[in-house]
Amino acid sequence: MHMRNDNLSAPQAIYRKDYVAPGFWVDTVEMGLDLGLEQTYVATRMTLRRNPDSTEKDIVLFGDGLKTLQLRLNGVNLKKSQYSIQGETMRIPDAPDDVVLEIETLIQPVKNTALSGLYASAGNLITQCEAEGFRRITWFPDRPDVMAKYTVLLRADKKAFPVLLSNGNLIEEGDLGDGRHYAKWEDPFFKPSYLFAIVAGKLVCQEETFRLQDGRDALLQVWVEPGNLDKTDHAMQSLKKSIRWDEERFGLELDLDRFMIVATGDFNMGAMENKGLNIFNTKYVLANPSIATDIDYAGIESVVGHEYFHNWTGNRVTCRDWFQLSLKEGLTVFRDQEFSADLVGTATGRAVKRIEDVRVLRQVQFSEDAGPMAHPVRPDSFVEINNFYTVTIYEKGSEVVRMYYTLLGHDGFRKGMDLYFARHDGQAVECDDFRAAMADAGGRDLTQFERWYSQAGTPRVHASAVYNADEKTYALTLTQSCPATPGQAEKLPFHIPVTVGLLGADGRDLPLHTDGAQAGQTSVVLELTEASQTFVFRDVAEEPVPSLLRNFSAPVVLHFDYSDAQLAHLLAHDSDPFNRWEAGQRLATRRLVKLTQAVQAGEALALDEMFLEALRNTLNDTTLDPAFRELVLTLPSELVIAEEFDEVDPQAIHTARQYARAAISDALRGDLLTAYENNLTPGAYSPDAEPAAKRALKNLALSYLADWPQQATFELALTQFDEAENMTDRLAALHALVNFKGDPKLKKAADKALAQFYKKFAKEALVVDKWFMLQAVAETTDVARVRELMQHPAFTLNNPNRARSLTFSFCNANPSQFHAPDGSGYALWAELVIALNKINPQVAARLARSMDRWKKYSPALQQKMKAALEKVAGTKKLSKDVAEVVTKALA
Ligand code: PHE
Ligand code: ZN
Repeated sequence: MHMRNDNLSAPQAIYRKDYVAPGFWVDTVEMGLDLGLEQTYVATRMTLRRNPDSTEKDIVLFGDGLKTLQLRLNGVNLKKSQYSIQGETMRIPDAPDDVVLEIETLIQPVKNTALSGLYASAGNLITQCEAEGFRRITWFPDRPDVMAKYTVLLRADKKAFPVLLSNGNLIEEGDLGDGRHYAKWEDPFFKPSYLFAIVAGKLVCQEETFRLQDGRDALLQVWVEPGNLDKTDHAMQSLKKSIRWDEERFGLELDLDRFMIVATGDFNMGAMENKGLNIFNTKYVLANPSIATDIDYAGIESVVGHEYFHNWTGNRVTCRDWFQLSLKEGLTVFRDQEFSADLVGTATGRAVKRIEDVRVLRQVQFSEDAGPMAHPVRPDSFVEINNFYTVTIYEKGSEVVRMYYTLLGHDGFRKGMDLYFARHDGQAVECDDFRAAMADAGGRDLTQFERWYSQAGTPRVHASAVYNADEKTYALTLTQSCPATPGQAEKLPFHIPVTVGLLGADGRDLPLHTDGAQAGQTSVVLELTEASQTFVFRDVAEEPVPSLLRNFSAPVVLHFDYSDAQLAHLLAHDSDPFNRWEAGQRLATRRLVKLTQAVQAGEALALDEMFLEALRNTLNDTTLDPAFRELVLTLPSELVIAEEFDEVDPQAIHTARQYARAAISDALRGDLLTAYENNLTPGAYSPDAEPAAKRALKNLALSYLADWPQQATFELALTQFDEAENMTDRLAALHALVNFKGDPKLKKAADKALAQFYKKFAKEALVVDKWFMLQAVAETTDVARVRELMQHPAFTLNNPNRARSLTFSFCNANPSQFHAPDGSGYALWAELVIALNKINPQVAARLARSMDRWKKYSPALQQKMKAALEKVAGTKKLSKDVAEVVTKALA
């Protein structure tokens, strides 16, 4: 038998409401794979059992791009008349209640450039099965609610594939005599097919046994390509910290005797939580001081944590269907955020982490939620699930989980988690089940809270207050609304926790007397559930300055008519460090909006002394964590400023922000130099929060100083570049040199530094990515320069990291150049999306999203953006992935 299935049908949406339980469960899966790069032979034997509770009567299997050699049901070859195939779906009707299916397929890993299913990477074989990659290996009921026990036998040439890994425990290995060998793996846990994994090839590992809290020893391994063993230590340390943290914070133990991490340079996403065999993008594993920055170190820690934490939130309890994706992702992001915050430990350290997370949410998720791809945390429909691994599912999903934490408190949340596992361990469930566990454990009615899952869009909360000096009352009125999003014109009120404090004139928190506040309490969680509500504080001795939405207690945009003086007061005194930072951002945003308007009107630009003074005071306040000061001194990004406008003018925003930077640099020069000198970190590199914070502030100071066009600051950057003993300092110096605004003669020296950097690190793929990225976002890099860089021998679209380093960075993070008035940026974008569509639809669709907000630009730009979108939409053989994104953008 020989057949191929190709999906040629037009993209069609699938709906959450259409969920039907599978007609058959799968109990066991035995797989045998003869591994080869050109060709891999897969034999699968599975036992199925009819699900009497389903309306579905057929055996339904999915397959994609398979060459099928054999299909046997209970030992008998299936005849063509006994099954049907449509697109990716095979149906076998009239099957008995108990079935053994035997399937043989052939696949071609080297031809798999989509990096989904089984593919080749640097001569090794790697799988990626989430969300629907398993069907590219064999026919299977490839849906997350079908959970089975897997045994996997791997056979391969010993020289080419000395290491053979799969999920669970290694139960047997040996020689096959003919230069080939085998390994047999058994995963003792039921799992959905998306968690299946194999890795085969020339890999080496750092390993360690680690004593678990329950006394068992677990073998931990980090596998990398030979030559990278000097870069695995941080990942190993992070893994051990993750295991300990989940034991201590949530009482969750590692359930396997062996836990493996594998790093590959070819990966569509950050990492993948396959049971016992996590597969990572090298970006989130490899680190040593000379190649990785502080941000890389922190990223590794959080992603190692994230994937490890999935073992409980995702693997032991998984998703019923892909509409429930945020059940595992939102929860696991919340867990990794808390992990990173707990590791820093201090209150400001936690706040710094919180600010960083909120920055991402605002910059990327708020924008998504206001555009054509806006979707609820639990979507109602999609065309291609790969397009729904979004900041809404992940980051907003995490904010939703954080709101339970805020509403129920630390212990209440833990009770909810315990109840969730007690009820659902081993099951595939829905977001509603998580909500029910939280409600039941906390004894709370969380019915209305469901709207956070069903309604898209970023809610607006308008706050206003009236102080009554005679009665000593302070009445705070909160009013909520939510803009329309595709398919959702009207929204119902959300259940919004708004954490509030009141500051006195001396900057101290006033004690709060209001419903729900205990004596002495200085922060209270108000629950806004109606369209508008008034909360009254009693015994308020003086008119306070309100500190609203402390610690960003809900993913909303909050408006309050603050005066500049009130904001400066909050920036100087708020006991909630998040809101201190927030006050600074509000002050800055106001000014950047005005400056942008001034640029557009051709007026003179100026920055007021009051704002500069507030920044200076923060910069010089050495009682504050340097990381916190760095965040306050960082102006809102051009993308965040853009959200303030109905019609975005990227060049004017850029000019305004650059002006503000130069003015700050000018006014604070001496203070910046002092901050630079006071935050040097001599001695051996450590990625710990304290020295990393110093480097962050020092390098921010350097970047401001580089806006001061003087030989002296250029020399400062050049010396730092030459003498840097770690990548954080080296890269920061190179950034400063490349963006230096002075004498054009200095450009030569900057170019020389760029060339030196490349030469020194040409063999380190992750550093070459940085080299491309740094240039992609440089303000002088225009479309022509990007095209030139695309001709560099090290550039390729075939590797996702490399493609992203140059092209994504340019399209998403260099707005003033990408939106060149002649439309050349959009033409480049269209070419890239079309080229990537043929290679890797998932990566192409991500780049396609760069045009999401095209309706926010001037009519002249809009017209050019629309033309580019239409060009992509009209391309033949467009993947479902790209088609969905551009169709929705054009709708
Ligand atoms: N589930 C992975 C994570 O969040 C992300 C991922 C999705 C990786 C799809 C690969 C493919 O940890
Ligand atoms: Zn995840």
